[in-house]
Amino acid sequence: MSDEGSPLAGRRVVVGVSGSIAAYKAVSLVRLLAERGAVVDVAMTTAATAFVTPLTFASLTHRPVVSEVMALDPDEQIAHVELAEGADAIVLAPATANLLAELAAGLAGNAVTAMALASRAPVIVAPAMDAGMWTHPATLRNVETLRGFGHIIVEPEVGALASGLTGVGRLAESDTIVAAVESLFAHAGELEGLHVVVSAGGTREPIDPVRFLGNRSSGKMGVAIAEAARDRGATVTLVAGSMSVPAPRGVTAVEATTAAAMRTAVLRSAPSADILVMAAAVADFAPKRTSNSKIKRDGAGLQIDLVANPDIVAEVGEMADGVRPFLIGFAAETDDLEANALSKLRDKGLDLIVGNRVGGPFDAIGSEDNKVTVFGAEGPLTDWPMLPKRQVAERLWDLIVDRYRAARPPAGSRRSTRARRR
Ligand code: CTP
Repeated sequence: MSDEGSPLAGRRVVVGVSGSIAAYKAVSLVRLLAERGAVVDVAMTTAATAFVTPLTFASLTHRPVVSEVMALDPDEQIAHVELAEGADAIVLAPATANLLAELAAGLAGNAVTAMALASRAPVIVAPAMDAGMWTHPATLRNVETLRGFGHIIVEPEVGALASGLTGVGRLAESDTIVAAVESLFAHAGELEGLHVVVSAGGTREPIDPVRFLGNRSSGKMGVAIAEAARDRGATVTLVAGSMSVPAPRGVTAVEATTAAAMRTAVLRSAPSADILVMAAAVADFAPKRTSNSKIKRDGAGLQIDLVANPDIVAEVGEMADGVRPFLIGFAAETDDLEANALSKLRDKGLDLIVGNRVGGPFDAIGSEDNKVTVFGAEGPLTDWPMLPKRQVAERLWDLIVDRYRAARPPAGSRRSTRARRR
């Protein structure tokens, strides 16, 4: 296999290996990364060295392996810190349940966790463990915490496990892990110099101090879009409604949990934005009055009068050329996806709209996966399967970048126009 054209050529990748029987598979992973032109270093936990020797990895990489947290490198520098600072990407494979817990807690007791904690490079985590461990609430929580740090999880696959049982927990194939590392660099710098604003999550319209009208949006799709834009080099503002996931590292998060607050935040950031992705589920109505005290149960015949909220993205759509960012909306529909999405695209003045089925078998709300169809004014543009939300975000950016470049060629770029105006 050749490294010609591989986005890994010349990249420094540190592979962290922990103590799972799957540690032997890290050997083929390291070999593949090196074949694609990456400069590969290996860090190991002590437990990992019981499965594969450091010599195996050193022979493949022609570089010293770091397996002790206190080790010094040949220049008398602390080896795990040197690895951390030089890394373009970190791949933790296999990552045991214990390693996930240590990473989630910020522990740094071995060469792998110390290196990962010290680094600011993107981290890809490929777990491997028994199915019972993988599905334990503690592991699920730790994985969510790591996603919140912006780490990319390459999910384990279903297959025969070391226990003799069959289930989910087998380390993903080396090819799959390498593809995840390559995708980190495939589009690096593509959005450099651009300001991207993404809204995410749902709004909550207060009825009284304890109750609200809201929706089931988790914010996961918008967060994945914000992360993917960040990784392509954009300066990202995340206007965060109510979300079940934390705002990612490396973006400016503005909290806006009501439609009114979201309108203020979006309209404030839109004029400096090159691209606005309005993924938030904005409540269409709000209670006319918010009670200052908790409404009591004996308020027999209680009625809540509603008023319509302003359509935020439509207001941005009406901005003058030269100020209006390239505009992407979402359409959440139970019926007639295409017709409804296309009329929203027209009515709201959007460049693209992402049609999302809600309810029924493809319901994406709160889920890790999503099946969407993207529409332009001319009709449907995509036929994508159900995909993890991060992959939906990557494909979406591929499409947005193409369309944005066609609509706003770099020569007369808005940024330079705006810079002149300032
Ligand atoms: N949107 C908005 N402000 C609102 C309502 C929606 O900016 N008050 C945006 C959403 O963020 C999304 C798009 O408009 O990008 C479409 O949202 P959706 O809820 O699908 O449509 P609505 O316009 O609310 O229409 P309906 O609820 O009748 O389907």
